[in-house]
Amino acid sequence: MMERKTMGIALCAMFTLPLIYQCRQAPEKEKTKTEEIGYYEEPFRPQYHFSPPEMWMNDPNGLVYHQGVYHLFYQYYPEDIVWGPMHWGHATSSDLLHWENKPIALYPDENGLIFSGSAVIDHENTSGLGREENPPLVAIFTYHDMEKEKAGSNDHQTQGVAYSLDNGETFTMYEENPVLLNSEFRDFRDPKVFWDEDMKQWVMALVAGDHLRLYHSDNLLEWTYMSRFGKDQGAHGGVWECPDLFELQVEGTDEKKWVLLISINPGAPNGGSGTQYFVGDFDGITFTSEQQEAKWLDWGTDNYAGVTYNNTPGGERIFIGWMSNWDYARDTPTEVWRSAMTLPRKLSLAKYGGEYTLVNYPIDGVEDLLVEEARLNLHVPAGEEKSIGLVNGSQSRLRFKAPVADLSFVLKNDSGEALVLELDREEGLFSLDRSASGLVDFHETFGRVQQMPLENLGEGELDFDIFLDASSVEVFINKGQFAMTAQVFPTSPYSALAIRNSGSETTQIGDLRVDSVARIWKD
Ligand code: FRU
Repeated sequence: MMERKTMGIALCAMFTLPLIYQCRQAPEKEKTKTEEIGYYEEPFRPQYHFSPPEMWMNDPNGLVYHQGVYHLFYQYYPEDIVWGPMHWGHATSSDLLHWENKPIALYPDENGLIFSGSAVIDHENTSGLGREENPPLVAIFTYHDMEKEKAGSNDHQTQGVAYSLDNGETFTMYEENPVLLNSEFRDFRDPKVFWDEDMKQWVMALVAGDHLRLYHSDNLLEWTYMSRFGKDQGAHGGVWECPDLFELQVEGTDEKKWVLLISINPGAPNGGSGTQYFVGDFDGITFTSEQQEAKWLDWGTDNYAGVTYNNTPGGERIFIGWMSNWDYARDTPTEVWRSAMTLPRKLSLAKYGGEYTLVNYPIDGVEDLLVEEARLNLHVPAGEEKSIGLVNGSQSRLRFKAPVADLSFVLKNDSGEALVLELDREEGLFSLDRSASGLVDFHETFGRVQQMPLENLGEGELDFDIFLDASSVEVFINKGQFAMTAQVFPTSPYSALAIRNSGSETTQIGDLRVDSVARIWKD
């Protein structure tokens, strides 16, 4: 028998030109661009952060753990590298670091596109969509109806349900979708659902433009409005998106508080998209907080729409954010895929200077990816610069301790590009200047300097932790008391770290550790 491929070509030869094209495609599955170039080896491709095999990705969705599997669903447009009709893409992992790409989980249907949302394990089968021996994995998401949006009424965003009885491998749309209608709000989306053990109810946190709305349900299918929060609190420079609500114990105490995450676009402290949070209380009906001003989970421009996992084994709060910004997300210089996720970060609540602070820091598992490169201490006299070489600068982790002083940490490459991180003692500021870090002119705002005030610092040195991965940098100070995440597009790897001391005293950079970070993708 003739081999499939050869047979295809032979048959094509007998047809007219327009048909030849179809014939060529039919017998063999076409290679994806990623497969052509090398699996996850394209320019700027992150090596230890999740990014989709190809095409456009935005928010993480449906973060849930079930039977040994962490699910990462995400806003996905499979036809282009710019935003388009949204699907839920899907990847799974057993450790939140090594990911396996899965087929698209949810496709748009007659109710609309599939916008952001969450997923739960309905252990008691309250929805009746599974069986108690095989509880359903239930996804709750926003339907966005483009036609209705064009018509100009406010009924185009509703909430829908889909369920899986094989741990996320396949989904069925609930027949009576949508489960929560709306004709009041132009923006009415991004349901985060969780089980409230105290009240024995499902709770849905949803945003409606400028505020949070809470609903409850016994069965995930019928929802009743409970309360709202936030019209006059926090930042309101843009639309509220992607809420999350959860309880955390304050480090070192018995006190428990509730934390509300709200992404906002625009209106972030360094421009465009960002994630604010509120610390307060939830009594099963209403969330309240005394906090008037926004607090920011991450001061960098590239950590948006982040939410946390449901149903984690140890009950830890694990967060993943989308490492981009709506200001320029569509313009970044990648060709095969667009954007990546942050490292998975563990959230905890601490008090610094009497103020509740949401601490976010990469999960411990990241340690397993490290390969030691160098360990040293550096003296940098006043007015001088000391430099060390980086073996694997585009895929590494740098750690050191530094005093609050006038210091710059400059990552340089052989193409004359530099990413400048700076500490300003007088102003109590940390800044990230990527204006000469590589490709920057694809958008006018990309080169702007980003600043982060270092408030409520304790005594002693600052503890720096910097993750570089092809096209991103994540900076953590004091194990996540401060975080700053940004994309960068250097045209060659950063090959040196220069430490410049512009203060008047010799500075000791202690415990400087450089590690390579292993690639997570299979070759
Ligand atoms: C946030 C967001 C969500 C929405 C989704 C659409 O980035 O705007 O509010 O559900 O993206 O892709």
